[in-house]
Amino acid sequence: MSLETVPLGHTGTKVSEIAFGTWRFGRRNDTGAVEVDVERAHELLDTFAEAGGTFIDTADMYGDGASEEYIGEWLETRDREDFVIASKIFWPTREDANGRGLNRKHLRRQIDRILDRLGTDYIDLLYIHRWDDETPVEEFMRTLDSFVRDGKVNYLGTSTLDPNAWKVVKANELADRRGYEPFRLAQPRYNAVNREVEGNYLEMCADYDIGVIPWSPLAGGFLTGKYRRNEAPPAASRAANDQRFANSYLVSENFDVLDVVESVAEEVGASPAQVSLAWLMAHPQVTAPIIGARTPTQLEEDLLAAELDLTTDQFERIAQAKHQRSV
Ligand SMILES: NC(=O)c1ccc[n+]([C@@H]2O[C@H](COP(=O)([O-])OP(=O)(O)OC[C@H]3O[C@@H](n4cnc5c(N)ncnc54)[C@H](OP(=O)(O)O)[C@@H]3O)[C@@H](O)[C@H]2O)c1
Repeated sequence: MSLETVPLGHTGTKVSEIAFGTWRFGRRNDTGAVEVDVERAHELLDTFAEAGGTFIDTADMYGDGASEEYIGEWLETRDREDFVIASKIFWPTREDANGRGLNRKHLRRQIDRILDRLGTDYIDLLYIHRWDDETPVEEFMRTLDSFVRDGKVNYLGTSTLDPNAWKVVKANELADRRGYEPFRLAQPRYNAVNREVEGNYLEMCADYDIGVIPWSPLAGGFLTGKYRRNEAPPAASRAANDQRFANSYLVSENFDVLDVVESVAEEVGASPAQVSLAWLMAHPQVTAPIIGARTPTQLEEDLLAAELDLTTDQFERIAQAKHQRSV
């Protein structure tokens, strides 16, 4: 298979229609085990690249920097120009008062650490990982703009719904008045069971030409169908090793949506994971979902979603599944 190339939102840069997320690289789960070690990480990146994947998502805090280091080591054997790399800054990286957030001191320190760990002169996309109500918008927009002017970053993005739509509007209007680079991409959680982004936020993105790059497109694995109602989660799964995840995702209303996804999967002869991804990819505003497969086998299955097209009826049944259960 070969992934197609699509525009990165409304920018001139092109990316693969599926992005690969590296949150689990070097990360320890509730039991203390590393979820994806460096060898597995390189295997996953190889699998992704062989399928035509070019769009890689990381963050300065993933695995306390291990994710960027693993990617950096892998890039030494590749041509960096073949890939579009996104990272993020916000979460604490030091104990002191300035070691977190979007204050100028933290942003400047972190961008250089990101470039150093990835072994590159620039990243294609920098997201603010969360909004920082303690730092003036003028301060962080001007600092982020300087990264673009200095050639350290190509585009800016905002992550999660935490920046309510009005906050993104405020930042982009300020950027427009001052001639700063605006947010051109948004990375919210979005999948068939988590639909908070619909309505106000997506309308704002459309109006401001902001491309949408959903995280947790499989609801962290819930939409693969491997969890069953009233049954213990499979041993090596996220829900078995992360109680918070299990509590929020393995709930009756989500299983109702999964029932619909599974019935469509049966009709089209694909897996629930593939149908869930195809559903998300069919949204015109979506640039590329960021899949977080933990093994090459999972990744190969998920990537095949790119070859699946749903009918309008199948798309609508999944779209309505969440709303129907609450009626
Ligand atoms: N901006 C933000 O705040 C934010 C937040 C979260 C994530 N992200 C980004 O989004 C990426 C993806 O997030 P995510 O990991 O939650 O995405 P996801 O694709 O919804 O879930 C991935 C998980 O689902 C399971 N899985 C995937 N494919 C499977 C398959 N075919 N069969 C069975 N299980 C399968 C695996 O978990 P197990 O095998 O362990 O069960 C895998 O780790 C992250 O890596 C990160 O880059 C961003």
